[in-house]
Amino acid sequence: MRAAILSFMPRLLAPVIILLLSIPAHAAHPPAAAIASAHPLATDAGMEILNAGGNAFDAAVAVTGALAVVAPMSCGLGGGGFWLLHRAKDNFETMIDGRETAPQAARNNMYLDEQGNVVPNLSLDGPLSAAIPGTPAALVHLAKKYGRLPLARSLAPAIRLAHDGFATDEFYRRVAEFRLTALANAPGLLEQGKPPQPGFVLRQPDLAAVLISLAKQGTAGFYHGEVASKLVDGVRHAGGIWTLNDLANYKIIERTPLRGEYHGTRITSAPPPSSGGVALMSMLNILSGYPLTTLDASTQTHLLIEAMRRAYRDRAEYLGDPGFVSVPVKQLLHPFYAAGLRASIRLDRATPSSALPTEIPVQQGPDTTHFSILDRDGNRVAATVTVNYAFGSAFIPPGTGVLLNDEMDDFSAKPGAPNAYGLVGAEANAIAPGKRPLSSMTPTFLENQRGVAILGTPGGSRIISMVLLATLEFARGGNAANMVALPRLHHQFVPDQVFYEADALNPGQRAMLEKRGHRLEQTADRFGDMQAIVWERDTGVNAASDPRGRGAARVQNPP
Ligand code: DON
Repeated sequence: MRAAILSFMPRLLAPVIILLLSIPAHAAHPPAAAIASAHPLATDAGMEILNAGGNAFDAAVAVTGALAVVAPMSCGLGGGGFWLLHRAKDNFETMIDGRETAPQAARNNMYLDEQGNVVPNLSLDGPLSAAIPGTPAALVHLAKKYGRLPLARSLAPAIRLAHDGFATDEFYRRVAEFRLTALANAPGLLEQGKPPQPGFVLRQPDLAAVLISLAKQGTAGFYHGEVASKLVDGVRHAGGIWTLNDLANYKIIERTPLRGEYHGTRITSAPPPSSGGVALMSMLNILSGYPLTTLDASTQTHLLIEAMRRAYRDRAEYLGDPGFVSVPVKQLLHPFYAAGLRASIRLDRATPSSALPTEIPVQQGPDTTHFSILDRDGNRVAATVTVNYAFGSAFIPPGTGVLLNDEMDDFSAKPGAPNAYGLVGAEANAIAPGKRPLSSMTPTFLENQRGVAILGTPGGSRIISMVLLATLEFARGGNAANMVALPRLHHQFVPDQVFYEADALNPGQRAMLEKRGHRLEQTADRFGDMQAIVWERDTGVNAASDPRGRGAARVQNPP
């Protein structure tokens, strides 16, 4: 028996060993540094810090800080995020989980009325929708543990932008218009109560003061003392439930990233409380059993859709904060599990979502932001940061300039009932004091013989399928520009529909998919705002910002 096992072992281990040997650790230094972010001023802020001798982690502080000022519709000090890091000198990888936490007074029925129905917008607008922010603590940690420069230096560009102001653009005007009613609680982000006209210079002196307090005192400058008192007073005065203890007790968590492999490409991505890494690997595990590139385009798309359907079902069913629920990551990512899911896929027919056990829709939303950084030493950052909905809760505690998130909406307000986005989750993602809401944010690194990619995007539940498509593009040889520009399609289990951008499917492919029973819906707008960097061993570094957005990618070759 023992001999039988021993003779079997090498065969089991052989593919693993070949894989480990075939994927390079990419130890050499890249020929150039690069930053791709969703706003040119944030990319500039990061470049300023690289030029001042900072590393990728210092630049990540600068970019996050600058985005907090110039992209309040997407992220900010009042929000949270995930910073995936690769340190070149020892190949150490970690994810800083700066996800917001539910305040201690949060209850799982807090967004329900007496009849047990969800009260519209309660988890979206105003201070009751705000969870305890994680971004300030993450910035302090990044600078202290991984950076080379003092926090105050890396935050200097953000402080300048908040103090001196920046010119708002058409995108800002449009999103502010969309959230105008709620933004009555954040007049400092408007131009005399109206969406600012493009070119209007928005100054945020209160936010500059809070950034300075953070820069000087570290976490004490936000989670304790005067700033904390102003935040809590403002929140409670307007009907919220934060306490000073909630702020004082906030902690970031360093988590081991999830790892997977797809046809010679190694994937490193976000673990729970993000659902991103699990769902991404689960889809890749399913797809790895097919000779995808040899199949016709509509069969490939059919298989992508079926993989998405199954991974999103599991996301809704099983995933939540691992500090509160046990998330069966190992089982979900086991190759036998993927084989089982594959066995339920027919090549000629769509599987109706209703034929798979459970019916749990997942959310989508209009904001959040991602940035990618590579420095000359080969350090990498992929960070997706958010205040959740556009302009978060749209509430600023007076005197702070800190726009609060509405991340509480990422919990399921009531297991089994849709929230404002049509979101329904399982018990695993129910509200509990101190718990982190389930996220879809998927900052990711890819590595293969050709090189390394750093990527991610906003887009709510669609984040994960967008990262999947970009991963497949990288695996078949695409560069950063190809990855971000790729036409997108998405299926999230429920609703049982394929959402696609106009150029993602040609009429022939649409006909073939409909014949298999897929329900197709073209989205009114293109979606996502991906920021990608690719370091190719042979050709150097390329970077790209999604053509759908207004961001900027810059590659900086040495002088
Ligand atoms: O953490 C999450 O998954 C959401 N709060 C992200 C929201 C989002 O990406 C909206 N974007 N367009």
